[in-house]
Amino acid sequence: MTKIKTVGIIGAGQMGGGIAHVAATSGYDVLLYDVSEDRIEKGLATINGNLARQVASGKLDDKVRKDALAHISPAHSMADLAGADLVIEAATENEEVKRKIFQELCPQLNPEAILATNTSSISITRLAAQTDRAERFIGIHFMNPVPVMKLVELVRGIATEDATFEAAKEFVHRLDKTVTLSEDFPAFIVNRILLPMINEAIYTLYEGVGSVEAIDTAMKLGANHPMGPLQLADFIGLDTCLSIMQVLHDGLSDSKYRPCPLLVKYVEAGWLGRKAGRGFYDYR
Ligand code: CAA
Repeated sequence: MTKIKTVGIIGAGQMGGGIAHVAATSGYDVLLYDVSEDRIEKGLATINGNLARQVASGKLDDKVRKDALAHISPAHSMADLAGADLVIEAATENEEVKRKIFQELCPQLNPEAILATNTSSISITRLAAQTDRAERFIGIHFMNPVPVMKLVELVRGIATEDATFEAAKEFVHRLDKTVTLSEDFPAFIVNRILLPMINEAIYTLYEGVGSVEAIDTAMKLGANHPMGPLQLADFIGLDTCLSIMQVLHDGLSDSKYRPCPLLVKYVEAGWLGRKAGRGFYDYR
C-alpha cells in the first residue's frame, strides 16, 4: 500500500486551501498548486488566518500552527508535484477543467502516486477514465469549511483498487475525520440530499413564499440548521450549487432535480455568493 507522506493539492481556493490546512496540521508535507502565484499567495494567507483563528480559540497549539505552515510549500508548476504520493484535485466543479488538469498532471506524477478528486458530484469512474491510473484514482470529498467539518465521503470508481481505497481511508483517518463510503452515483450522498433542499429553498424564494430572511430563519430556528439554506448556498458558491444540480438533473433524468431558474439567473449575473461579494446576501 502506498505510504502517503507528501500530498499535492491542485487548487488553493476554499476547498484546496482547507485540505492543505488539515493535511499540514496532521503532519503531511503539502505542495499547494494553483494557476497563478497570486492565487497561491491568497490561499496561503487564508490558511494562515484560519490557523491563527484556531489558536486564538484554543483549538490548536501555536507550535502545531507554526509546524503546519512550515509543512506547506507552493508548487509553481505541475512538475513540482512529482514527489507527491497523493495528489488531490480541488479545482472548479467543471468536468472539462478537471480533464485538462489530469491530462497535464498525469505525465508529471510518480507512476505509483494516487490521484484523487474532491469533486462534489461528477462521476469518479468517468474522471478516472481520463487519467492514466484508474486503479489508483478515487474520490475524496471534503465538506466546507474543511477544518471544521468532520465528514469526508470516499467514492470508488469501478476500477479503484482496494489498496487505493485503504490508503485514502488511512489518510482521512489521520486527519481525524470520519469516512463514509458512497457509491459512484451523481452527487454521492451529502449533495444528493443537501442540494435539492437548497434548490427548493431557492424555488421558495422564486415563488414568493417567503423572503431571504424568512426562509433562512425558518430553517435555522425551525429545523436547527446551523445556517439557512440561502446563506449556505452563498457560502458554497452559487456556481457550484448550479453545477451540482445540473449533474443531478442530467445524471438521474428526473425533473425533480431541475435547477431553479432564479439560481441560473444569479449565476448568469455573476452573483456567485460570498466569494463574489453578492449572492442572496450582499457582502460588499
Ligand atoms: N477554518 C477554521 N476554523 C473555522 C473556519 C475555518 N474556515 N470557519 C469557522 N471556523 C471555526 C470558528 O473559528 C469557530 O470556532 P470556535 O467555536 O472555536 O470559536 C467555529 O468554527 C464556529 O464558527 P463561527 O462562530 O464563525 O460561526 P458558526 O457557529 O455559524 O459556524 C460554520 C460556522 C461551522 C460554518 C457553521 O455555520 C456550519 O456548520 N454551517 C454549515 C456548513 C455546511 O453545511 N457545510 C457543508 C457544505 S456542503 C459541502 O461542503 C459539500 C459540497 O460539496 C458543496
